[in-house]
Amino acid sequence: MNHLFFFEKTIQNFYKKEGRKILPWRKKDISAYKVWVSEIMLQQTQVGRVIAYYVRFLKRFPDIFSLAKASWEEFLPYYAGLGYYRRGQNMLKTARVIVSEYEGMFPDNKEKLMKLPGVGEYTACAILSFAYGKNVVAFDTNLKRVFGRFLFGSKYAELDKNDIARSLNSDKKMLNAAIMDFANSICLNRPRCNICPLSEKCLYFKEKGEREYVLKKEKKHFPTKDARVFLWLHREHREYYSANPDRFEVFILDKKMNSRDGIKRYFSEHYGLELAVRPPHRKTFVDEIPTLFVNAQILLGDHEFAIFAKEDIEECAAKTL
Ligand code: ADE
Repeated sequence: MNHLFFFEKTIQNFYKKEGRKILPWRKKDISAYKVWVSEIMLQQTQVGRVIAYYVRFLKRFPDIFSLAKASWEEFLPYYAGLGYYRRGQNMLKTARVIVSEYEGMFPDNKEKLMKLPGVGEYTACAILSFAYGKNVVAFDTNLKRVFGRFLFGSKYAELDKNDIARSLNSDKKMLNAAIMDFANSICLNRPRCNICPLSEKCLYFKEKGEREYVLKKEKKHFPTKDARVFLWLHREHREYYSANPDRFEVFILDKKMNSRDGIKRYFSEHYGLELAVRPPHRKTFVDEIPTLFVNAQILLGDHEFAIFAKEDIEECAAKTL
């Protein structure tokens, strides 16, 4: 892939001079447990704020065994302030799975890592790279922005991750960390192209950001008020409810009910249920119809919807997503 040799050399030099090597999760021979803790914390909080939490957390829970046997009440003071409790609960669940199923060792296998509660593709790749030194690229929003702009002129570009990973030759552990640092000091959302060492071969710079600007406008132009809703009604993503007793079907709501209040009202009036409705997690066109994907849980009330397990609905998800 063109220009990637220049890219890697430049990023390496940047890291040598300006990389944040002192971050506590950048230690040599760091365990997968410590990488995992850092990545969960960094999912929701800025680097500067995470450091103090991270150090305090690891003093109290120095290894996976100490964490796995902690109760929620013991755990919470060391996590409170870091955002969603759901993530905290997933942390405890994962710690217990690692102890009961993996003898306390995080697997060095992406598929197995991604089965752990709260571990997605990025976190799995980060553990493989930072803890196990595997040759994988951990595409978080930072890496997507930098590669998207440099190669395709826009942070919104769809990347062929495998193609990029195959074309890179440097040590991935260094490269992942270096690009994150680069994205946080130079290729920010508002990029500092005037001081950027990549600019001479960067498509974003060459085009003066035009492509990103156009894509942003296109992105912005989603006709939310005309969109219908695909509603995934579930209980903690373990049980999903379908209006059809024979097979899983998402609830499809008309554009008249496409606000959070509208959805709540609809379920209250039709089924006598009180729901907690999340903001749409996806806005897209399905069969050219603007569609919002929304998750909701039942807070109060009885229902007779058919219950489907997560595995049962995967086929339906593949069709509709
Ligand atoms: N270093 C390792 N993981 C990181 C992350 N998620 N954000 C910033 N720096 C990191």
